[in-house]
Amino acid sequence: MTDWRRAGLVPVVYDVGVEHERIGTMGGRLLWGADLRRFYRGIEELRTLVDGGHVLDVPCGGGIAFRGLPKKGPYRYVALDLSPVMVGRARANAARNGLREIVFLRGDVSALPHPPDAFDLCVSYFGLHCFPDPAAALAEMGRVLRPGGRLRGTSIVRGGGLRQDAIISLFRRVGAFGTVGTAQELSSWLSAGGFDDIDVDRDGAVAFFSARRAFG
Ligand SMILES: C[S@@+](CC[C@H](N)C(=O)[O-])C[C@H]1O[C@@H](n2cnc3c(N)ncnc32)[C@H](O)[C@@H]1O
Repeated sequence: MTDWRRAGLVPVVYDVGVEHERIGTMGGRLLWGADLRRFYRGIEELRTLVDGGHVLDVPCGGGIAFRGLPKKGPYRYVALDLSPVMVGRARANAARNGLREIVFLRGDVSALPHPPDAFDLCVSYFGLHCFPDPAAALAEMGRVLRPGGRLRGTSIVRGGGLRQDAIISLFRRVGAFGTVGTAQELSSWLSAGGFDDIDVDRDGAVAFFSARRAFG
């Protein structure tokens, strides 16, 4: 399995692709049979969703979600990733775009360095399928979200088609992917992780999900 702490090229190639919307959309269609225009639209919605809130972006990668952020607050935004290369790219991205409200952290999603109930919103784009234990990662996101706080994101999932499942197996074999669940498994992991109001919508091999950290 890829050691993301040291991986240089794999996430950088992904990041360069996803940063360019036309390449990302084409890659989404060719590789995953999915329309990623919805992913880019979802990021744009952050502009209103972050308002006044404390937001966690994990894994932030090179900061693709930053394009949805207003230049100025009020909001507080933590961008966390395991890879120093990606945190460096995210930092440079924020500087290029004049975003000053972001705190950058190198860390592991399985042990977030935050107290319970710290965030109002957590975004997690295309990270779950890279993790060895996505269920535990979701539970950890749930732990740091306040009751009623929202989670939204995307993940590659199995069950999108024979070709997509074969590509997932290949990516797992070369170590680029970790544990990849089905959309149904993703829904169960969210529920077990303390979320309700769960919505998981699969398009090809991409799941678009949202959920609320349950009260009590
Ligand atoms: C495919 S990229 C997605 C990044 C970004 N959200 C995006 O959509 O561009 C996956 C990211 O997960 C990070 N990652 C892998 N394992 C991690 C872990 N255990 N904790 C935090 N980040 C991790 C990698 O370093 C990589 O930047």
